[in-house]
Amino acid sequence: MPPPKLGKNQVFFGTFIHSKGLDELEYLHNAAVCVDTSGKIVAVETNCNQQKAVETLYGRLGWSLDDVSVVRARDGGQFFFPGFVDTHVHASQYPNVGIFGKSTLLDWLNTYTFPMEASLSSLPKARRVYTRCIRQTLAHGTTTAAYYATIDVDATNLLADLCYSMGQRAFIGRVCMDHLGPEYYIDESPDQALAATRATIEHVRSLDSDYELVSPILTPRFAPACSAEAMKGLSELQKQTHLPMQTHISENRDEVKLVKELFPNSKSYADVYDTHGLLTEKMILAHAIHLTEEEADLIAERNTKVAHCPVSNSALSSGVARVRWLLEKGIQVGLGTDMSGGYSPSILEAARQAKLASNHLAMPEGQLDGLPQDERDKAKLSIDEVLYLATRGGAQVVGLADKIGAFEVGMQWDAQLIDLGIVPAEVTEDDFTTHGNVDIFGWEKWDERIAKWVFSGDSRNTKRVWVQGRLVHQQT
Ligand code: GUN
Ligand code: FE
Repeated sequence: MPPPKLGKNQVFFGTFIHSKGLDELEYLHNAAVCVDTSGKIVAVETNCNQQKAVETLYGRLGWSLDDVSVVRARDGGQFFFPGFVDTHVHASQYPNVGIFGKSTLLDWLNTYTFPMEASLSSLPKARRVYTRCIRQTLAHGTTTAAYYATIDVDATNLLADLCYSMGQRAFIGRVCMDHLGPEYYIDESPDQALAATRATIEHVRSLDSDYELVSPILTPRFAPACSAEAMKGLSELQKQTHLPMQTHISENRDEVKLVKELFPNSKSYADVYDTHGLLTEKMILAHAIHLTEEEADLIAERNTKVAHCPVSNSALSSGVARVRWLLEKGIQVGLGTDMSGGYSPSILEAARQAKLASNHLAMPEGQLDGLPQDERDKAKLSIDEVLYLATRGGAQVVGLADKIGAFEVGMQWDAQLIDLGIVPAEVTEDDFTTHGNVDIFGWEKWDERIAKWVFSGDSRNTKRVWVQGRLVHQQT
């Protein structure tokens, strides 16, 4: 079944902000965006009020007034922004958000992560966890998520059902791990791991035959948790199905060392994936912190994508990924929350932390110490750049660059209505109603408003969220 059609065409009026390119946000004021009943953007018109839309646009589109429902972003701090893309998130770890203590990756997995994931073989528990995870990520403006579920097929299929019914665009990964896991949480064999993966693919296909909203994604957890046979089997399955893939790479120094010990004949961590047929343009690699120059060049050559997860990288003290370095090699990068390595469901938080992590690289005592200051300064990402990574960059990473990430004719209406709530000068302090943490006085320029949103905004500013034209979250 494809997702249901909408009852009416829709027109959105007001200010629209999206990325034109990596370092340039475009501001469209007094604009109109028309969305048809399939959720597709069919017109983007600037300098367009409602009267002009009725006179010119509707005629051109063959719409009558009765066909159309209208949504207006109020002047005074409201604007439409593309929905966020979370390129790396573990739905099954949602209850553990914020719980990591002083652990680092390998002990964190054993202490917190595997027990929680294993417990979701209880379907009632999985339903509670996944429902809240989807609700929270939607409330934070995430319209597309690349999810890891667990090794359990039924619970993973339930995540697909819930994304489909709640209307979130999603990639659903049944986690493959047939090696080195704890005995209570491990695939029995490569064959069983592949059969379980096929079962989830079948289920998602029965739900959404063309993968319009929900798609399977092949998910070898990471090299230490996968046998060579399982990785090769997944590579074969990918060649047959053309499905996307996701895994972790080079997140933590002990992990890199472990991979060297487990695959002594491989040149590097990236080479392990390459020699097992997984390093392709369909693969999303999370973290990519401790890569060598040769590994990054190989990843660029294969057109493999990277999910940058700065919140998790700091929380688990994994390191600072060199995003500028990856981008300059031509690697496509998006943002991931990596819940619950990351402590927040918010891609806005990931964008903020991507900015701050990049500043750390530029500091004299930072990772790039020894380079001249102007060279180090290049590592710093701008506000426009981190918002690009949160939207268009993410869309590239999940293979949907033509479909989502901006307001362009032919793309889907995956969008959020943000309210920064400008308080007019005539309102006294006593009348003050807040819109989250962002205090907008009205005299800021638009780029300054956006900077304030990135640094002090939160889900209270996210008033409404749409996926494929359908309203999927509304603040009450
Ligand atoms: N590496 C292998 N599994 C995981 C996981 O669940 N989270 C993170 N951050 N890294 C991993
Ligand atoms: Fe992860």
